[in-house]
Amino acid sequence: MAMSTTSRCVLLLFLVGLAARAASGVIDGLLPNGNFEQGPTKSQLNGSRVMSPHAIPSWEISGFVEYIESGQQLGDMILPVPEGSRAVRLGNNASIRQKLVGLTRRTYYSITFCAARTCAQAEKVRVSVVPDSGVLPIQTVYTSSGWDCYSWAFKAKHTTAWLSIDDPDAEDDPACGPLIDSVAIKALHHPSHTKTDSMLKNGDFEEGPYIFPNFPWGVLVPPITEDENSPLPEWTIMSDTKVLKFVDAEHFKVPQGKYAVELVAGRETALVQEVRTTPGRSYKMSFAVGDAGNGCQGSLVVEAYAAQGKVQVPYESQGTGGHKRAELEFAAADKVTRVVFQSMNYLMKPDGTLCGPVLDDISLVPLPKKHRRLFL
Ligand SMILES: *[C@@H]1O[C@H](CO)[C@@H](O)[C@H](O)[C@H]1NC(C)=O
Ligand SMILES: *[C@@H]1O[C@H](CO)[C@@H](O)[C@H](O)[C@H]1NC(C)=O
Repeated sequence: MAMSTTSRCVLLLFLVGLAARAASGVIDGLLPNGNFEQGPTKSQLNGSRVMSPHAIPSWEISGFVEYIESGQQLGDMILPVPEGSRAVRLGNNASIRQKLVGLTRRTYYSITFCAARTCAQAEKVRVSVVPDSGVLPIQTVYTSSGWDCYSWAFKAKHTTAWLSIDDPDAEDDPACGPLIDSVAIKALHHPSHTKTDSMLKNGDFEEGPYIFPNFPWGVLVPPITEDENSPLPEWTIMSDTKVLKFVDAEHFKVPQGKYAVELVAGRETALVQEVRTTPGRSYKMSFAVGDAGNGCQGSLVVEAYAAQGKVQVPYESQGTGGHKRAELEFAAADKVTRVVFQSMNYLMKPDGTLCGPVLDDISLVPLPKKHRRLFL
């Protein structure tokens, strides 16, 4: 009954192979027909309204969903579409959903999708993978095209799950719902403590949501409540309705590595991480502040604080990229210390969209115990 060493090895390799395949079941990037380029036939449409639940390949729709082509007249505006030439609009009671397959249980995934609002009212988009769900405000527009890409995250409970996107408000006007295009997924990896012995995790922002290679405006990370998952692992965005922008080195100047964050909403957004500390012990936080080379010109100021420590870091931006390093020393008062970053002022690019300082490469280390001020 004993297996030979060779067959045991073969079995082991087989199992390892299965595990690897299971782990890579979801490919980072666009979901099947995630850009809605494959659409309904003429007979499945009444005007632009999609009449059959399965008319859009890979998706299931309900309620008032319209299929929109680039350049189509919508009320008094002409619609550009960010990816390809087609998108959907969620009207009354509308939702679109797709079954995600090949998920790895207990793994976190981020969803990136692009949205545009069509009416002046405070539009929202709800994204859910039961039991997780989030309502994302899309009131503020951060790009000149009118399309913004948002991120959201969930933790997989099973290997398959329905991803659903809908409009949580019943609109008075059925044509007032948000436009949706380009839906992508990315597995989030638990960030290790990179390079140094920094106590902060993902301080270099190398782990984050999917960014479309052809979308040069970064991806917005919305505010979340404490029980929600962050598409920017280990970090929480605190705000009422505003966001933080996740930017890539392909399209922006980032101080270090492939990614950084841009604080685009002034004092209305705070970037927060909680770390375990020893009360009374001193710590040093070090970080890079600069501009993303995206034309955000002017006097940028980042404020960082932790416990009783606080520092304001001014940065004169020409809008062409660059950064400097800053430090904050503080003494922990509790077993858990919240480190917080904010942009102190509001800036706009020449195209009228909000912008702000980039932040990257944050590390936090305890100071040696002997490092005490003499006259305390
Ligand atoms: C198409 O829409 C129009 C206007 O809403 C409606 O009057 C008509 O009955 C619809 N046609 C079909 C086949 O559902
Ligand atoms: C939305 O759906 C609910 C239940 O499915 C229905 O009662 C309601 O009338 C719908 N609203 C609109 C505006 O279609």
